[in-house]
Amino acid sequence: MTNFAKAKAHTNIALIKYWGKRDEQLFLPMNSSLSLTLDAFYTETEVLLDDNLESDQFILNNDIQSLTETKKITDFLNLFRKQAGITTPAKVTSQNFVPTAAGLASSASAFAALGCAMNQVTNLNMDKSTLSTYVRRGSGSATRSLFGGFVEWQMGTCSEDSLATPVDDANWDIGMITVAVNTQKKTVSSRKGMKLTVETSNFYPAWLESAATDLVAIKTAIKQQDFEQVGLITESNGMKMHGTMLGATPPFSYWEPRTLEVLTKVRQLRGQGWQCYFTMDAGPNVKILCRYSDSQKLQKFLQDAFPDNPVIISKVGSGVELLAK
Ligand code: PMV
Repeated sequence: MTNFAKAKAHTNIALIKYWGKRDEQLFLPMNSSLSLTLDAFYTETEVLLDDNLESDQFILNNDIQSLTETKKITDFLNLFRKQAGITTPAKVTSQNFVPTAAGLASSASAFAALGCAMNQVTNLNMDKSTLSTYVRRGSGSATRSLFGGFVEWQMGTCSEDSLATPVDDANWDIGMITVAVNTQKKTVSSRKGMKLTVETSNFYPAWLESAATDLVAIKTAIKQQDFEQVGLITESNGMKMHGTMLGATPPFSYWEPRTLEVLTKVRQLRGQGWQCYFTMDAGPNVKILCRYSDSQKLQKFLQDAFPDNPVIISKVGSGVELLAK
């Protein structure tokens, strides 16, 4: 038997962050989160189920991957194979269209694209929200990459209801600019960073409380298309997440000197009347929520201020799609 599918998924940036797991095995989060899907960064993945293969193969950006990397993919594929009652090995060929200069993680788009292709080749035919409960177990943030626009990942009560739902298509002049501060692999992975924070940070309970309030507030602001509120809540939520890390033992931070310079520049631009708000993830790079119609002008101001750092514009991205089957 052979069966083939190819899928494309975009990455997403959380405006209300996911930071911490309550179940490491099932990737159940401590809090619900909300993101914006980005058009500029995506992954395309082909899956060929083939009885003639001896074991799974994983090729990423034209490089055959090590046994350790392939094992992670095998564990993920097994979730689908188990459900479908098959054991057929797969050849997975994946290409990341995330400019290396952007310094963005590609695990969200990668597992979303792989999950979509597996859903097809195994004939499981799950809807996107159900599929998101599988994709979640590849990478938490991937849960949200199945849909376009603003997307919520509800923490849920168990594996079956910790899933993504679309909130709004974000088709009201929204964009995001990434200022890459450092594109090297991060020193503390998000997995390790969140575990340390949950287990040791005195600030963590306060984070959980305010993440819940921020989520309600941002959903109201999105419904009202109140861009300023969406931006202010985004900025404050992201900083609170980074604050939890300073309260960990040992304390840690993803910030670099240039990060702070970029945040200062964004505040300065806002003081001049531009609508722009920053957020950051598990790394020193800064993402700036803005009006898409302002993005070229803002890009120029930022590029002039930081000539050595890549400054990349993205419009709002769409949900995962099958390209071939
Ligand atoms: O699921 P991961 O390992 O990509 O962790 C994502 C963590 C953050 O990017 C910091 C926040 C988020 O919600 O995407």
